[in-house]
Amino acid sequence: MNRKDEHVSLAKAFHNKQINEFDFVRLVHRPLPQSKVDDVSLKTEVAGFTLSSPFYINAMTGGSEKTKKINHDLAQIAKSAGLMIATGSVSAALKDPSLEDSYTVMRDVYPEGKILANVGAGTSVARAQEAVELFQADALQIHLNAPQELVMPEGDRDFSQWKELISEIQQTLDVPVIVKEVGFGMTRETIIELSELGIKTIDVSGRSGTSFTQIENARRKKRELAYLTDWGQSTVSSLLEANEANTHAEIIASGGIRNAYDIFKALCLGANAVGISGTILTHYMTHGIEETIALMAQWQEELRMLYAMVGATKTSDLTKQSLILSGPVKEWCEARDIP
Ligand code: FNR
Repeated sequence: MNRKDEHVSLAKAFHNKQINEFDFVRLVHRPLPQSKVDDVSLKTEVAGFTLSSPFYINAMTGGSEKTKKINHDLAQIAKSAGLMIATGSVSAALKDPSLEDSYTVMRDVYPEGKILANVGAGTSVARAQEAVELFQADALQIHLNAPQELVMPEGDRDFSQWKELISEIQQTLDVPVIVKEVGFGMTRETIIELSELGIKTIDVSGRSGTSFTQIENARRKKRELAYLTDWGQSTVSSLLEANEANTHAEIIASGGIRNAYDIFKALCLGANAVGISGTILTHYMTHGIEETIALMAQWQEELRMLYAMVGATKTSDLTKQSLILSGPVKEWCEARDIP
């Protein structure tokens, strides 16, 4: 099977809606909220864009006939709900132009949309520029995925140029650059390093949902570094780390978002926006496009209710909530001196 097709089917097979670290974050209930659901605005600002919803469809796929259909439908879902959306890594199309339409289909379906192109951290400035030009991307995502590369026998083994290349791309491109993990999370130190390179928007993409060490290992009999299935920092821990970084970087949360309540908690933990991959992909593959469009509308309605419940009328009000952390999240805070 094509590698991109395999990623999609394995992401669905492993999709896990069980407990994750968002369950160890509680909000303190306020019985007298002074708000109205009708007054709530879900708008948020990220990467210089004003988004009407604080969540979006994060990088997944492209590069084959099957994934062209998926990208078509994901773009349709994003368009119906007014969401930002990212393609999967466009590297395949930069090497083989016959694959381009599996990515550009998103622009055909959603010409007015905010659509992000995606490349790996070892990509040259020229290739990054081509990725943006492929479908007039509104911004570029650069992904950091060292553990995934290492479990792939054909994966990259040289990460020594990543920082330099990211810095060059940031300085050269005239669209916003977002650096993201792919599900292994970040720490305050990485966020500071990226900020020092001039990166203004960072997606911490933590452990809790899709695991690319698990997916890559499932693709072959001989497993590499199989014990890395659970590697990385959770999304919640990564967000707490980001708050400690004390930089001006905008933070995006992704990794393990299951529903509107997780989106809400991620925003309360300081994220400007929230990216979702596995949950939307699995819902779409199981229930189809119409039900996924309905789910996005349901999440938007639920978010309006959750904002009003805690007395918030806009997304930036959410960071004022009192949070109670327990279990592994509390342990992380203690070990990493997070008050
Ligand atoms: C991904 N992800 C991803 N990320 C990226 O930057 N470039 C890519 O090409 C891909 N490809 C990809 C394929 C599939 C099938 C999935 C499910 C995911 C990672 C994704 O953007 C996100 O960081 C992680 O999946 C964690 O979020 P979820 O899935 O737990 O919501």
